[in-house]
Amino acid sequence: MKIAVIGTGYVGLVSGVCFSDFGHDVVCVDKDPSKIAKLEAGEVPIYEPGLEELMAKNVEAGRLTFTMNLAEAIDGADAVFIAVGTPTRRGDGHADLTYVMAVAEEIALAAKHYTVIVTKSTVPVGTNRQVKQVVRKANPDLDFDVASNPEFLREGAAIDDFMRPDRVVVGVQSERAGDIMNDVYRPLFLRDFPVVITDLESAEMIKYAANAFLATKITFINEIAALCERTGADIKQVSKGMGLDGRIGNKFLHAGPGYGGSCFPKDTKALARIGQEHAVPMQITEAVIKVNDEVKRRMVDKLLELCDDSFNGKTVAVLGVTFKPNTDDMRDAPSLTIIPALVGGGAKVRVVDPQGKHEGEALLPGVKWMDDPYKAARNADLVVVLTEWNEFRGLDLSQIAEHMVTPRMADLRNIYSNKDAKRAGFDSYVSIGRAPYEASADQED
Ligand code: UDX
Repeated sequence: MKIAVIGTGYVGLVSGVCFSDFGHDVVCVDKDPSKIAKLEAGEVPIYEPGLEELMAKNVEAGRLTFTMNLAEAIDGADAVFIAVGTPTRRGDGHADLTYVMAVAEEIALAAKHYTVIVTKSTVPVGTNRQVKQVVRKANPDLDFDVASNPEFLREGAAIDDFMRPDRVVVGVQSERAGDIMNDVYRPLFLRDFPVVITDLESAEMIKYAANAFLATKITFINEIAALCERTGADIKQVSKGMGLDGRIGNKFLHAGPGYGGSCFPKDTKALARIGQEHAVPMQITEAVIKVNDEVKRRMVDKLLELCDDSFNGKTVAVLGVTFKPNTDDMRDAPSLTIIPALVGGGAKVRVVDPQGKHEGEALLPGVKWMDDPYKAARNADLVVVLTEWNEFRGLDLSQIAEHMVTPRMADLRNIYSNKDAKRAGFDSYVSIGRAPYEASADQED
């Protein structure tokens, strides 16, 4: 079958590459000539493990091509996927649908035969019906259907998530469109991955509800972590004890410096906005947005306390700036709140991140980028673990502590423990939701 994917951003590119790996003929379309040139040269503009190899394999097999020409790409396509961005609109928190609607109109004007227009971008409830109207208005004679097919892949694990999904959600209005979507995903259905067929609105709602729920789960555990710090409980033990309850589940219960990324911040804001619009305030989601901002700010206070209430003149080595490991994405990363506070307070900040420099350089002015955590920590006053890259999990902490001015560590991802810090000779070690370690207090014990 022939598929066109419009938009070669994160979701579009991963979907296009994976569809071609299913054996479909796929054309990926983008308006940005530099992106298309890169893709045609075999380069992936984003960092995603395994994507470049899978892309090369399918390009070589002749199943995957790239173009700027939308009309040519959709000619003969059984399904056209819209996978363009839906950023948060400035001012009102709404998802900006300008790109989605512009593409819908373009498809309508170029299409010559029946096609299913599928929205993969995360769009507010009701958008697919709007897409339908836009298409009908632009080309009243066109025979078409719309479908909603939200994507749940995680950055850094995108290919595996696409190929082995917990579920595929498809919102359709007609049997004909349902059959085509069934063919698109046949390789997954044959392997018994569950499919949830719904109406358009439910499919749209599932995506927002799922992301808001996950953001809530993280924020809940972050709030419990703050309380653990005051009460002497240990968040790791608490998370484990909670997560073993099958109704709760152990995933997304890792306390940290607050969620970030391209989806949770954007989708929680959009859901809150949709709620306001329908006079059903999403009070829990609104609280989550507020608390998550507070969590990020609380991290700054934590560091300040560790620096004897002043960053001025301190040298701080920050390990990790991306919003999570295995990505180069900096969108809404906690580092964007924490590092400017350090720099603004007069600290000299050194930064190490396996993939973050490219995007991070423009976003984090005034920091020094380094490649080696040991060198970054040399003569520093404080080491901060901000992203749990594997590279940072197995550091020789004694070697780090030995060459610091004052061996102090803030481990905002709980990848080490008080025991590790004590053994390595740190003066102080703070983490999330656990009692801090103080060498001086320890000796008194
Ligand atoms: C998320 C959803 O998981 C995915 O289904 C959706 O399609 C897009 O949004 P992603 O943004 O790639 O995916 O990242 P994810 O792994 O979900 O992490 C999001 C944020 O939450 C990160 O900042 C991460 O560090 C944080 N997080 C996650 C925690 O702080 N604790 C956790 O237990 C899990």
